[in-house]
Amino acid sequence: MLPSPLAASQTAPEPSAIPDAADRRRGGSAALGARRGAPEGPDDARPSDPSVVAAGGCYAWPLPADATCASEARTAFRAAATSLGLARDLVHDGVTMASELAANTLHARDNIQFDATAPGAVAGGPELWIYLRWAGGGWELACKVFDSMRGWRGGRAPQPTDTVPDALSGRGLQVVDGLSGGRWGHHLTRSRFGCWKVPGKVVWFALPVPDEAVPARLRGAGTAPASAARALERMLARRGFGEGLLRVEDHGATMSVLSVRYGITLWCQGAEVRWLAWEGYRHHPLADVEEVAKQVVAVCEEIDDGRPVAEPGPLFE
Ligand SMILES: Nc1ncnc2c1ncn2[C@@H]1O[C@H](COP(=O)(O)OP(=O)(O)OP(=O)(O)O)[C@@H](O)[C@H]1O
Ligand SMILES: [Mg+2]
Repeated sequence: MLPSPLAASQTAPEPSAIPDAADRRRGGSAALGARRGAPEGPDDARPSDPSVVAAGGCYAWPLPADATCASEARTAFRAAATSLGLARDLVHDGVTMASELAANTLHARDNIQFDATAPGAVAGGPELWIYLRWAGGGWELACKVFDSMRGWRGGRAPQPTDTVPDALSGRGLQVVDGLSGGRWGHHLTRSRFGCWKVPGKVVWFALPVPDEAVPARLRGAGTAPASAARALERMLARRGFGEGLLRVEDHGATMSVLSVRYGITLWCQGAEVRWLAWEGYRHHPLADVEEVAKQVVAVCEEIDDGRPVAEPGPLFE
């Protein structure tokens, strides 16, 4: 079990390449290009290597939309967590939680619009994302499982307290809640794989990571504002936001500003990325671009879902 949770955050990935049967089944770039005459996809359309996490990137893996998804998630999580050198107990807890979240994608399987089990399905199947992120007081390993159902079976998000003591099912999220010390949640997002980015949600948990397991690239203050802004631009373009992106640098390259869309602007300056969300400004270390990109995608999805854009308050003036 973990100590009590940090403040729950609604958050979320960067890869290399190993296309295989899973890639073809899930509609990686090669499969899509062949079937649909679509152009070769960006990097996100290919699974990455688990060791990318220890280098500060996001390990993204398409999960099968059948009962084998849990065992694939267990293998993938173990590989990523082991590459970071995490303690065995922590790895074991993480494997159990990844397994539960992956198994739960079966609840979302019959989403009519994007039935990943349909013959020739090319987008919208479950995905696993694992990466390091900064969460206020320290670094943690975030594990997210994507499915293409924006809502929940049963109409509302389940609570761990929903389960009655002698129930035979409905225990998976209770296990996740217990093993993560409450450090789990869900948010809207869109898929990484496939030739178009399918709207859906992720359910995630996070585990604390000791500083020594965090790569120097993330811990150090060596990231320049301009390179953080360029990385964010690249990541958001891959998630389908390319058309609205506008990046500007000041003359001395001490500040880089990335406009994503109306109401969402990322200021990379000094040692941080700052941007306005509903609760006020969010601040991240410059190297925490994986997390910033995922939060921006989540906020855009919420706005597309009808939530009003955050308006600048007096802080801005
Ligand atoms: N990814 C998901 N998409 C849609 N609904 C979900 C998802 N995950 C969970 N649910 C809903 O939340 C309920 C509780 O999930 P939980 O994992 O705790 O129990 P379970 O999957 O029903 O049973 P168990 O995990 O014990 O085998 C599910 O029964 C389902 O209705
Ligand atoms: Mg379950």
